Amino acid sequence: MSSSEKSVTEHLYKVLVIGEFGVGKTSIIRRYTEDKFSPNYKLTIGVDFALKPIEWDSTKRVNLQLWDIAGHERFGHMTRVYYKYAIAAVIVFDLSRPATFDSVLKWYLDVNQKVMLANEQPVPILLIANKCDLEDTVLDSKMLEEFCQQHNFIGWFATSAKDNVNIEEAMRFLVKNILELTAEGAKPSEHISLHQDKDYFDTIDEEEEISNNSEEDTKSKCCSI
Ligand code: GTP
Ligand code: MG
Repeated sequence: MSSSEKSVTEHLYKVLVIGEFGVGKTSIIRRYTEDKFSPNYKLTIGVDFALKPIEWDSTKRVNLQLWDIAGHERFGHMTRVYYKYAIAAVIVFDLSRPATFDSVLKWYLDVNQKVMLANEQPVPILLIANKCDLEDTVLDSKMLEEFCQQHNFIGWFATSAKDNVNIEEAMRFLVKNILELTAEGAKPSEHISLHQDKDYFDTIDEEEEISNNSEEDTKSKCCSI
């Protein structure tokens, strides 16, 4: 190994992707990690995972572990377990369904009540206004700007997973924020050592039973943790 290779550091960050059902969380993640999009809606059952490796610069390699959390209410009881060890969150709403914006604060409170950084500061949260490709959607930039300032979101982006608008930019902005925070010493509430977390796996087993009993076709993209 050359001396330049030795100086590269690897970072693993767990990021939650949350918001109401059907707003496009899975589609955003799929666009970001695989550059693919499907117009068919296949709701997420419980949680899916995706890993995005990023060569950030010549000294940093970032592995983003994206937790794609079902927006459907029937999975709501699981969020406390899913949120553990997260360093950041993305809350998504659908520009064509105003009610999904009304739920943003619900998700925001949910995250802030259930996870925080090791220094007890809130995790950074990015707001995503998805489906900007659809006609008749109105984007009130001023309102979103004020909303983000008022609630301490790190920022917002209007995106389209369908047309690949602003997905890369939004995620890059999030990673930049995470790197800045961690450079200042921020850490997730506990180290990522999920293998040892019995409580975590017991609850995942419980969730798998729900999936197995469901008639919906599930896709599992589980990455090794
Ligand atoms: P849950 O898993 O139930 O929480 O939903 P989700 O937030 O993961 O939504 P999903 O990504 O499955 O997308 C729901 C529907 O919206 C699908 O039919 C997608 O094809 C569609 N969709 C997602 N993103 C976009 C987009 O940017 N533009 C348009 N036009 N449709 C989109
Ligand atoms: Mg989904």
